[in-house]
Amino acid sequence: MSMSLREMAVAVLNTADPRQKTALSRRFAEEWRTTRKDGREIELGIAQPPDMPARPSKPELLSPRDVAQRKPGTPEGRIAMLHAIAHIELNAVDLHWDIIARFPDVDFPMGFYDDWVQAADDESKHFNLMADCLEARESHYGALPAHAGMWMSASETAKDIMGRLAVVPMVLEARGLDVTPGMIKLFKQAKDHAAVDALDVIYSEEVAHVAYGSRWFHFLCGRENLDPTPTFHMLVRRYFHGQLKPPFNEEKRAEAGIAPDFYWPLVDQQKP
Ligand SMILES: [Fe+2]
Ligand SMILES: [Fe+2]
Repeated sequence: MSMSLREMAVAVLNTADPRQKTALSRRFAEEWRTTRKDGREIELGIAQPPDMPARPSKPELLSPRDVAQRKPGTPEGRIAMLHAIAHIELNAVDLHWDIIARFPDVDFPMGFYDDWVQAADDESKHFNLMADCLEARESHYGALPAHAGMWMSASETAKDIMGRLAVVPMVLEARGLDVTPGMIKLFKQAKDHAAVDALDVIYSEEVAHVAYGSRWFHFLCGRENLDPTPTFHMLVRRYFHGQLKPPFNEEKRAEAGIAPDFYWPLVDQQKP
């Protein structure tokens, strides 16, 4: 392997074109897996990740309240939903490579890198699935505006690995587990089988990403001798600007290693 893992991560982050970004991400993930399987020496290296990952000129990024809400019962509404998911997946590709590059001072077993490389590879596949769905419907990623501010959680936790793990996989990706079954149902009702198949893949693979978050969060708590539950609550209150919203997918959350006492106390936390 000629590039170090962190150089690969930064190369993905600095690639603006989404299809090129995901292609590079998948190629690097494959290289990493092959090298690991062969038992060869792995260079983690050092490389400076950008403050913001490179992005295409489209979609236009708007504040969430300026993104038009479309009725989910219409074909346009379903395209808007696929577009929003594509945007989330693209951000997720960058988030996973970013956690690999961002914290070279924190020592982890190799399994940490295996997990996030795998997650980045999965998200790259997910973006491609959503972009394919859009293209099959005569749209494309970039055709609609998308939410700005998705990188906010990354920026705010750029110096806090535990905060990053708490907010990104354990809050945001866990939220994906809560809402995806409803979206799958909606596409099923519309008899949109291609979208259902794609969303099924995404849903089945996201559990592992939440589990990676939980595993490494607990690993760090154990090493620092911290009580995981109050530590999680403190970090989410510090870095996540919003409420955790029930209903929760308790089954999949449990599968991913997130116990109810992690999330229930964070519901309505700001209400008097
Ligand atoms: Fe995903
Ligand atoms: Fe994910």
